[in-house]
Amino acid sequence: MKRDNFGSKFGLLAAAAGSAVGLGNIWKFPYITGKNGGAAFILVYLACILLIGLPVMISEFVLGRKTQVNAIAAFKQIKPNKPWYLAGILSVSTAFIILSFYSIIAGWVFSYIGRSAIGNLITVSPDNLSEYFGNITSSPIEPLFWTFLVLALTAFVVILGVKSGVEKYSKILMPLLFILIVILMFRSLTLDGASKGVAFLFKPDFSLLTTKGVLEALGHSFYSLSLGMGIILTYGSYIDKKVNIVSLAIQVTIADTVIALMAGLVIFPAVFAYGLEPTSGPALIFITLPAVFKAMPFGGVFETLFFLLVGIAAITSTISLLEVIVSFFTEKFNIGRKKCTILISLAVFALSIPSTLSFGIWSDIKIFHKNFFDLFDFIASNIFLPVGGILICIFVGWVWGSKNAIKEITSDGLYSFKVEKLYSFIIKFVAPISIGIILLYSTGIIKLN
Ligand code: PHE
Repeated sequence: MKRDNFGSKFGLLAAAAGSAVGLGNIWKFPYITGKNGGAAFILVYLACILLIGLPVMISEFVLGRKTQVNAIAAFKQIKPNKPWYLAGILSVSTAFIILSFYSIIAGWVFSYIGRSAIGNLITVSPDNLSEYFGNITSSPIEPLFWTFLVLALTAFVVILGVKSGVEKYSKILMPLLFILIVILMFRSLTLDGASKGVAFLFKPDFSLLTTKGVLEALGHSFYSLSLGMGIILTYGSYIDKKVNIVSLAIQVTIADTVIALMAGLVIFPAVFAYGLEPTSGPALIFITLPAVFKAMPFGGVFETLFFLLVGIAAITSTISLLEVIVSFFTEKFNIGRKKCTILISLAVFALSIPSTLSFGIWSDIKIFHKNFFDLFDFIASNIFLPVGGILICIFVGWVWGSKNAIKEITSDGLYSFKVEKLYSFIIKFVAPISIGIILLYSTGIIKLN
């Protein structure tokens, strides 16, 4: 079977940035920044992105490009007789589980797009927003409908293939996302009292930063760049030799970070301007922000644009999650892309059902003291993702060898790479050890308060 490739540099960048920019940037980054005191947390986050995220991203890209196969076969090709392919299986499984609950949150966003577009959300009084949101998430039927819709849209794009699906739609959606975020940022920054929100984001107060915050920044930098689950590896496998991987990875990293900061500049100035709290956690965009929009002139319009923005960010990420799984199954079992995508999407949907119900009628069913949603999130985000990340670093740094990786980074000498030593040191030591610490913390082995 001939493999598809990305057709243009911009398309490749849009697709990889599309994967990286997601709910993590617009929903999670602002709320964890809010909880961790703002600017000091952001500085630590930036350091993590630069020191660890970027080198790991480069490593995943080159492993994919070198082998030109899916995330499991890549490990097998480089180390045929050792069980390293298990690292690939772990990556694909992580993508599968994450997709199952990521689509649920994306589904809530789509429900908010619908409700704000018809002018319903804006009529809810701030006191009732919490209940309004709770009614949506706890309903046994409605969230399933939205989750299904998210998966159906994702599958539609993935079925069309890498060039005519993933790349084509990323090239349309990413510029649209950028325009929307610029409009919203401008609106937020021109509100009376916006400057308090800007100060919150950019004036560091290190007394608010805790060790826990530092680990959260590190973990989030990894998640936000879509690392550790074979996504960047898979996209790398669709790239040809002439592409300069280092500059590509830098561009993706900058896009991801800039969008996260812009999301902060959309949310915090508005939240402060209307005297609300930035610390509400996951409810920040679903409960706090609608109260902000309600108080704002033409709030209904901005509200619709905002949730559209979040929806676009989410879909370009679900596309990448599904692509990793589809790429493996089509290549391994030689099944057609369409049939394979539909079957996998249905399986993901089935897995999402218990998680959806855990916000309502199944909220009392607990396994290891966690409901289904929290359990899947814990297994995938706190265990599989860091383990996958460590394995990728060890594999590239030690097994394949950083020398070989560097050869691929330079496209066999076509491009220069001035920080070879630093890169080797990071990928062999700094990155796996740091991710190891995240793992100890995220699994509760090290406890911090
Ligand atoms: N990077 C995405 C985000 O920030 C999330 C994601 C993680 C997507 C892993 C794909 C894979 O939301």
